[in-house]
Amino acid sequence: MTPSQGLPEVPENANQQCPGTSSDQAGKSAACAGCPNQSICATAPKGPDPDLAAIAARMATVRHKLLVLSGKGGVGKSTVAAQLAFALAGRGYEVGLLDIDICGPSVPKMLGLEGQEVHSSGAGWSPVYPQDNLAVMSIGFMLPNPDEAVIWRGPRKNGLIKQFLKDVDWGQLDFLVVDAPPGTSDEHITIAQCLQSAATAGGAPSGGTSAVIVTTPQDVAVIDVRKEVSFCRKVGLPVLGVVENMSGLLTPAAKCTFTAVPAAPAASAAPAGAAAAADVTSAVLALLQERFPGVELRVGAEVFRAGGAADRMCAEMGVELLGRVPLDPALGEAADAGRSVADAAGGGDGGEAAAVGEVDGAGRGAGGGAGLVCLPALMGIVDKVVARTLGAQGGANGVDATQAQQAG
Ligand SMILES: Nc1ncnc2c1ncn2[C@@H]1O[C@H](COP(=O)(O)OP(=O)(O)O)[C@@H](O)[C@H]1O
Ligand code: SF4
Ligand SMILES: [Mg+2]
Repeated sequence: MTPSQGLPEVPENANQQCPGTSSDQAGKSAACAGCPNQSICATAPKGPDPDLAAIAARMATVRHKLLVLSGKGGVGKSTVAAQLAFALAGRGYEVGLLDIDICGPSVPKMLGLEGQEVHSSGAGWSPVYPQDNLAVMSIGFMLPNPDEAVIWRGPRKNGLIKQFLKDVDWGQLDFLVVDAPPGTSDEHITIAQCLQSAATAGGAPSGGTSAVIVTTPQDVAVIDVRKEVSFCRKVGLPVLGVVENMSGLLTPAAKCTFTAVPAAPAASAAPAGAAAAADVTSAVLALLQERFPGVELRVGAEVFRAGGAADRMCAEMGVELLGRVPLDPALGEAADAGRSVADAAGGGDGGEAAAVGEVDGAGRGAGGGAGLVCLPALMGIVDKVVARTLGAQGGANGVDATQAQQAG
């Protein structure tokens, strides 16, 4: 189905509950009563979707699109998308970051761009640039009140996503990273289909589109990720790989607190832990320093579960595990402060920072100086993303590996 000729999917003056001009119900449903477009929608012949040609023209200047997806909310999609964009820009690529999480846009906050507005010019909507080679667009820039809930039906959301793809003046990009809402809903189908149709529509072919799927080690998240992988297969979207985020906690011991609780409180005592617990942080840290002078001690813990649920899922579904990112307070802080975690660690360039730490047997970053806990793992993921998309050189003439894979 395609929108009624000449009308966007959801025109500006449409009714609040507009079913979408491409819907069979366009102009006929109860939601259309009183809409000024009713007669056009009801009678207009359905032709080819005029948006697709415009999207294809816009996307022709983007070498590779990465959709960051997950079946679950809160697993770190926005964090991964934001840090991926920062890191790719840190390596000198031209990068765009598009936030299509209409109900919960996190990108303005995670990029330090709250309160920014989008301007339009003859060339389209101008993204916001936190740095020269990083262009950012989010519905968050367009909402008058960030605390207000956005309650939109599917067609209206789809209309906005199409507008983001065809009206934003991205310029020449090596990567467009898309931060998606959780699940496999209308928005995901729209963006996957638009980008794929754009790649094959008339004009210069735009680069490949592929998915980076984010999960946590918990079974509940991994189960949803299986669905996400199968969704990608159904819509023909290649899966670049899976990121296991929040893969255990790893933090400098100096950031931990230590509490002494009597092992077996007497039955008559106050509820366990209430009066008895004592903060022994300084004593423990002093002891540790005495025992291990001159090193930074790190504390690790499996928060959700150990046992490689994501590993197994990846092996079973034939997708690559790109890496495991530990829960690292420095990453949460960087997200809240709207900056790159590489900058937080004092290493602006991701490529250099990656060399500082080693990745341990579980794929987690274990080396590096203070504040670099999650960085080696993140940078390992960025290396793989570059290698799998732009080819080993990742330079201006790199082969688009996903396209090559699809073609082969
Ligand atoms: N590896 C991590 N270490 C520490 N905090 C993290 C990590 N990954 C995500 N977070 C934090 O968890 C919260 C949820 O992450 P977010 O990226 O918003 O998830 P999603 O986009 O999947 O809903 C955010 O506050 C973020 O800063
Ligand atoms: S008539 Fe219905 S489908 Fe057409 S624009 Fe109005 S609300 Fe949307
Ligand atoms: Mg998010």
